[in-house]
Amino acid sequence: MIAAADPKAARIVADFPILGTTTSRGKRLVYLDSAASSQKPRAVIDKLVDYYENYNANIHRGVYEIAARATDAFEEARAKVARFLNAADTAEIIWTRNTTEAINLVSFSWGLYNLAPGDAILTTQLEHHSNLVPWQLLAEKTGAELRYIPSDAQGNLVLDGLDDLLEGVKLVALAHVSNTIGSIAPLEVIIPRAHAAGAIVLLDAAQSVPHMPVDVQALDVDFLAASGHKMCGPTGIGFLYGKRALLEAMPPFLTGGDMIKRVSYETTSFNELPWKFEAGTSNIADAIALGAAVDYLEEIGRDWIRAHEIRLTAYALEALRPLEPRGLQVYGPPRAEDRAGVISFNFADIHAHDLASILDTEGVCVRAGHHCTMPLMEKMGWPATARASFYLYNTEEDVDALVAALEKAATVFGIA
Ligand code: ALA
Repeated sequence: MIAAADPKAARIVADFPILGTTTSRGKRLVYLDSAASSQKPRAVIDKLVDYYENYNANIHRGVYEIAARATDAFEEARAKVARFLNAADTAEIIWTRNTTEAINLVSFSWGLYNLAPGDAILTTQLEHHSNLVPWQLLAEKTGAELRYIPSDAQGNLVLDGLDDLLEGVKLVALAHVSNTIGSIAPLEVIIPRAHAAGAIVLLDAAQSVPHMPVDVQALDVDFLAASGHKMCGPTGIGFLYGKRALLEAMPPFLTGGDMIKRVSYETTSFNELPWKFEAGTSNIADAIALGAAVDYLEEIGRDWIRAHEIRLTAYALEALRPLEPRGLQVYGPPRAEDRAGVISFNFADIHAHDLASILDTEGVCVRAGHHCTMPLMEKMGWPATARASFYLYNTEEDVDALVAALEKAATVFGIA
């Protein structure tokens, strides 16, 4: 039984200028690729323009009025992110370019100094390359062993052997939500057991922070990485949350201006947190605009966003079912409540890229390919999948457009 559409969703659409546009073929833009990057509300776009038009200046340097205004707005955006995650301390938020850079920061500044032969890093078979390649390289450099929590055929982590896997582990690095399958990691089980085994935990929250409440203190996570562009903010800005004690003990990642306290020809002392990790001129405009994105998401409410995405996913799973006898295969946990708004699928023997191209002719934007999870695709035996992903601005009408476009693909490829 599908719940009736929430009128709030239709009102939200109007906040996103791009969603009122049409494609060159005259089709309404149906954007179902928010797991790759979200669209931006007017408030975020306006914030960028306001900064460049009215107070564009470097931060932490100038004493003049617009420089002070830029510094205040930049630091206020950091405080907004800290409140959004319920971090104990604003200084625990480090600006990075994206999730990938945040994970690399931990790999270089924590991993290189805390791992040695005999230690192990534990990740999962579901990871995006950004939470896998850094650990492969770190294992090579330090002599630590890299292990994986297996996943089952539906993309759920298999925890039967977790205690054995945790033996000797210093770092557990895992995704909260699988970007390819949409399954949600049972953090309430994994994090306490990792801590009991003496490991710290890094959460790749790129696919969860934009879509559901995430409280770093309640989770007791040690590091968390996320990207602004997936949460209605601009590209080129993301953040690392880290517990203060861990960040204090870590050396800087990149070095240069702004991250120093004092420099002589002989030596350098480093700035306090969070600036110790922010070398060079920061991405000021995009950080400020990400603050506006946080305000926007807070106003809508993450509980509402999560409920909306569950409702939409349930609607989509049911709407796609009639195509299954014709060869549509939908992957991931069967219940909408057990997954995020990410649906990977294949249709008969149509290659995912061809399928995505046909959908595009109908204005429907989905991602196709390996989704930066090549080992997972190989394990599952999927050469590629098409992936539809939802956000707060998607509606049942978008799902209907996806189904209609799949019907068109069936016609084009002669699927009876
Ligand atoms: N990580 C992004 C995705 O899953 C790019 O599409």
